[in-house]
This record gives sequence, C-alpha cells and structure tokens, in this order.
Amino acid sequence: MADQAEGLRRMMNKRTKEQTGSAVELEVLNRPKTKIADRQTPVTALSSPPAEVIAVTSGKGGVGKSNVAVNLGISLARQGLKVAVVDMDLGLANVNVITDVTPPYNLLHVFEGKKELSDIIAPGPGNIQIIAGATGEQDLANLSRHECHVFLDKLSQLDRNVDIIIVDTAAGISEIVLQFVCGADRTILVTTPEPTAVTDAYAVIKAALKRDEEPDFNLVVNRAQDIREGRQIAQKMQRVSNDFLNFPINILGYVLEDKAVPNAVRKRRPFYLEYPDGRASGCIEHVAKRLQGLETDQRPGGFKQFFARLLSFGQNLSESI
Ligand SMILES: Nc1ncnc2c1ncn2[C@@H]1O[C@H](COP(=O)(O)OP(=O)(O)OP(=O)(O)O)[C@@H](O)[C@H]1O
Ligand SMILES: [Mg+2]
Repeated sequence: MADQAEGLRRMMNKRTKEQTGSAVELEVLNRPKTKIADRQTPVTALSSPPAEVIAVTSGKGGVGKSNVAVNLGISLARQGLKVAVVDMDLGLANVNVITDVTPPYNLLHVFEGKKELSDIIAPGPGNIQIIAGATGEQDLANLSRHECHVFLDKLSQLDRNVDIIIVDTAAGISEIVLQFVCGADRTILVTTPEPTAVTDAYAVIKAALKRDEEPDFNLVVNRAQDIREGRQIAQKMQRVSNDFLNFPINILGYVLEDKAVPNAVRKRRPFYLEYPDGRASGCIEHVAKRLQGLETDQRPGGFKQFFARLLSFGQNLSESI
C-alpha cells in the first residue's frame, strides 16, 4: 500500500519537478496584477509539491456535485493521496450534510485572523479533511490587500499537508463560481443526462471561456441509466464544445444512477463508504483512476496560486468596471 501510495503521489505531482522551488516562486512573485506581489514576506511555503486544486461545478443545481466531490475525494484518499475537500457552496445539501461533519470554523475565520488554517480543518470520513468555505457575502474578489496577504499566507500552509484540494462550488455562472473554475488547475463539470442540465453545463463552459483562455474542463455525467447513455451525452457535449466554441473538453467518466446514493445521503454517510460494492462506487473509483492518469498541463498548481489567480481575476474585473 505504501508503495502504491508513493507511486500515485508521484503520478499526481509529476509536473511539480519543474514547478517547485524557484521557478514557481518566481512565477508567483512576478504576477503583476495579483496582490501576492504586495506580500511583505517572501514566498517560502513551496518547498514541498503544491497541491492540485480541482473545482467541482455544474450549470444546474442538484446534479451531484457534492456527492462527486466527497466520494471522489475518499476514493483518492483510499489510494494513498492526502485529500482536502473545501465546501465553497453554503447552500443546502452539501459537504457537511453528506459527511455529517460541520466544522465549527470556516475560511472566514482565517481571513479575519481569528483562526489558523489548522484550526478549521476537520477530519472527515474516509480519511479526507474538510474545510468549510467563507460565507457567501464574503466575496473573495473584494478582499483588501492586507486580507489577501494574510489569507494567502494561511493557505500556503495547506500545501504542505495535502496532495489534492477538491473545491465543491455552487451551481451556475455566478462571478465567484467562474473565478473558481478559472482559478483551479482542473474543473470537473458535472451534469446529468437531462437536457436542462446539459444546456446549463454548456453555459458554464461558454461563460468560463469569456474570461480565461484555457480552463481545464473534465466532464462527469452523473445519474446515467447505463454507460451508453453517459457516453452519448458526454460525446455530444464534447462535439458541441468543439464545433461551436472551438474548445476541447475532456470526458472524465460516468456515474450511474444508483439508489445507494440517496440512501447514503439519508444516513449522512458517503456512498463510497456505505455501499462500496454499489454501481456508483465502482464508477467513482473509475473516475478517480482516470483523474490520476490525466496528463497535467502547464498551469502551476497549489492553493496559493489558485487564490492568486482568483484574486487576479477579481482585480481585472474591478478594473474593467
Ligand atoms: N448517481 C446518483 N444516483 C442516484 N441519485 C443521485 C446520484 N447522484 C446524486 N443523486 C441524488 O441527487 C441529490 C443531489 O446530489 P448533490 O447534493 O450531490 O448535488 P449538488 O449538485 O451538489 O446539489 P447543489 O447544487 O444543491 O449543491 C442527492 O442527494 C441524491 O439524492
Ligand atoms: Mg452541492
């Protein structure tokens, strides 16, 4: 197991050889539009490989983002990776409901300097760590320079402790969600086969493309009746994105409709733990393996750089208003 874990970690972090150390630091420090450049202390926390930030999002609500985020996280953790799931959607049924873990503090407390990041990380089921996001009204794009400085410093601590940070976002194309999508190393775009969900997922791609040249979209079709249906929907979306947006999206996989999912939610337990032999669990495992097999792109990783990108989008936005 230890050997497998080591191998997987190496696979997930294969880009970091080139990106750790001075190259990454220079990259961060030289970003002219991010507030990171105003830091009083040098960037020092990148001595270990940066964590990969994966946003899980959707156009339509209720398509299975939180379930995918949590159970995928557990599957990756099972394979030896250190995973944190950040609940950035403080809507209704989200990470805290699925895991029955409600951390007493959230990122806002870290922003405000009241807590350290280590104080707000709560142990979750299946060896994942859970972090509650800041409240909706605390728009990351509106942080003061000092708050950004403090926040990025705090977040950099996370990089040393985790391999993958999965950010469960709200549905839709709100500004903050699009910032997450564009700021993440990868985005998992969840849809169901329903035409409304597919149309709304397409709208996310379209909206994201308006602000970033290279968002990395990985499609998961959830609640498919069978693999054929999942594949059909995914390939159709891929074709439409290619033909009309001239933009390639990756097909990450399918999760089949499975009663185990609502049953597990009712028990406030992740389905991957409660029904490990179920159809949905098998699919999630497959998605986790595909994710590890993906070629990493050239975008730098790590939570700190993720937020640096977020803040840079926020700044660009306020400059354009
Ligand atoms: N593969 C599946 N099979 C059966 N039911 C599913 C499946 N995936 C999700 N569901 C059902 O859909 C519900 C919503 O899932 P989830 O909360 O993960 O969606 P969400 O996209 O995070 O929603 P929101 O947009 O409200 O945050 C689950 O409680 C479950 O009942
Ligand atoms: Mg959710």
